[in-house]
Amino acid sequence: MNNIATLRDMALPQHFSIDFGAHSLKLVNLLKKGSSWELKNIGSVQTPPEVLNSYKEEHKSQMIDAVKSLAAEARVPYKEVSIALPESAVFSRVLSLPKVGDDEVTDAVYWQLKQFLPYPIEDVQSDYTQLSVDPSGQRKVLAVAAPKKLVELYVEILERAGLVPVDIESETLAILRSVKYAHEVSDAVVLDFGSNTTDMAIMKDGELFFSQSIATGADLLTKALVNEFQLSYAQAEEYKRIYGMRSDAADGKIRNAMKPVLDMIVTEVLRGVEFYKNEIGALPPKLAVLSGEAALLPALPEYMEAILGYEVQLADPWRPIVVPNNIAEIVRKSSPAFTVAIGLCLKE
Ligand SMILES: Nc1ncnc2c1ncn2[C@@H]1O[C@H](COP(=O)(O)OP(=O)(O)OP(=O)(O)O)[C@@H](O)[C@H]1O
Ligand SMILES: [Mg+2]
Repeated sequence: MNNIATLRDMALPQHFSIDFGAHSLKLVNLLKKGSSWELKNIGSVQTPPEVLNSYKEEHKSQMIDAVKSLAAEARVPYKEVSIALPESAVFSRVLSLPKVGDDEVTDAVYWQLKQFLPYPIEDVQSDYTQLSVDPSGQRKVLAVAAPKKLVELYVEILERAGLVPVDIESETLAILRSVKYAHEVSDAVVLDFGSNTTDMAIMKDGELFFSQSIATGADLLTKALVNEFQLSYAQAEEYKRIYGMRSDAADGKIRNAMKPVLDMIVTEVLRGVEFYKNEIGALPPKLAVLSGEAALLPALPEYMEAILGYEVQLADPWRPIVVPNNIAEIVRKSSPAFTVAIGLCLKE
């Protein structure tokens, strides 16, 4: 995003990242040593309920306190931070431009974006990346736009927490960078399972070609168990984490109660795949990677594999990163949860 990219030019070589999730804020600080990356600091803190993306002063103060305690807990020795905006708040779309000169691309993107945006173009901050040019001169570009008000909200929160924002991008772009680096793939359907939303992206030749935020997240799986078995939320959460989608546990009852929620997500994923096929005119990649802490749901990869009909992998963004022994176990257990935060740090 334009003015943030300018902020980035001023960035010091050392910075860390925070992923603002509805369930938790996650912090990662990686250090580049030669051609490899080493984990220096890590942390997470629960997001105060209902405060994410809220402009109310009392909510901002709660978020500022959460950011301060996270930064203090992780003991990062500097202030420069990269963050991601929630995918649900970001508009991204592949645009097909008619034959235009290099100096006319920015204008062509502006006019197309103006048509597609669900809000006035004056209210957004936008940027684009060229994806391809065909022999007739037609270009495909990926345009990304975010409400200026939201960018300003995050800048305010970080500054009031005593930090210096050096880069802001969309969660999806950060996830794709992580997946590309750790899984050494450039074509994949990537699904980020969060608490409130499931974000879908299709990566082709290493670039984002399609993304959508599905308004069904993993907290609804817990709520389905609360309703079905009259459990407390905490008990339902425990069952969800222990049994997940395993058909061989608890007579498959936990699985059956959560299945309708997962199937709502799957329906939207399949719609996204159809949209991609029609827009891009190519078959989507035959590999899916699942990120987000909620992807730890037992037997989720197997469940998705049976529906999609191709290989499904759990994201392992730590794979190529050198992790100190004393936190190796924590990192291993929460492997897909830090995909966004790691991707933000990997940006050079
Ligand atoms: N081991 C586990 N098994 C199953 N589900 C889990 C596990 N650990 C966490 N979850 C679920 O993951 C969700 C939180 O995931 P995550 O931390 O990635 O969300 P978030 O990034 O804070 O939210 P969002 O991306 O929607 O803003 C919660 O619904 C939680 O119940
Ligand atoms: Mg998330």
